[in-house]
Amino acid sequence: MKTYIVGNWKLNFNVGESSIYLHKLQKNLPNYRDIEVVVAPSLVALQPLSLQIDRHKMKLAAQNAFYRDYGAFTGEVSFAQLKGLVDYVIIGHSERRHIFGEDDKMVGKKVAAALRNKLTPILCIGETESERAFGETADVIRDQLLSGLRDVSEEEIDEVLIAYEPVWAISTTGHAKLASPDEVAEIVKLIRGTLADLYGEKTAEKIGVLFGGSVKPSNAGAYLTVPGINGLLVGGASLILNEFTDIIDVAKRVKS
Ligand code: PGA
Repeated sequence: MKTYIVGNWKLNFNVGESSIYLHKLQKNLPNYRDIEVVVAPSLVALQPLSLQIDRHKMKLAAQNAFYRDYGAFTGEVSFAQLKGLVDYVIIGHSERRHIFGEDDKMVGKKVAAALRNKLTPILCIGETESERAFGETADVIRDQLLSGLRDVSEEEIDEVLIAYEPVWAISTTGHAKLASPDEVAEIVKLIRGTLADLYGEKTAEKIGVLFGGSVKPSNAGAYLTVPGINGLLVGGASLILNEFTDIIDVAKRVKS
């Protein structure tokens, strides 16, 4: 399986800044066959960047989309409209869930809509600090997986990526703590076990599982060597070109 390094730019960079960043990033990026480099710029930058991007080197992701293809949904953008611009869509990021009130049901519909439109969903799951403190982590992870994948068939599941992002480890939460590789390993085991229950052992092995939460060049290697991890979802560090390329370098070293 490839290693996925996904940069989530969140609400940062205007169109010009995004274009300059992309130019610099892909200029020095080798054409890695076994590493899939993906960036998720702001929605307004997707169209121009889709013309600029060298798809042999990297791919684009959207940070969100709405599950209906068209209709009276003021302010929304559909997966159908993103087709041709991006290859991936981040779905159910904790900021969508906690700031914008997206619930598990909506996340499930979005995953289905992505697949219907032949885009790869990156389904984000993860417990909050208080859920962990109350011993609810396993239930939260299982519930988020079950509802996120509710409409995903066995034929479709290997098109889905899962990103485990403990909310308490995301750098912008203010008091973020680093997740230890052991803590990550425990949850990845649970995720893989749940996927095996849903789709069978063999199919589950083909599903990519990413980790995200304060990933930096200095800790990327430790997370990438957690058993069952196939990549990283990087927020803050993906905004700094050197840090992002260093993380890609680490992935390359771990792979070889
Ligand atoms: P972070 O963000 O790397 O800044 O912690 C990760 C994310 O929110 O996807």
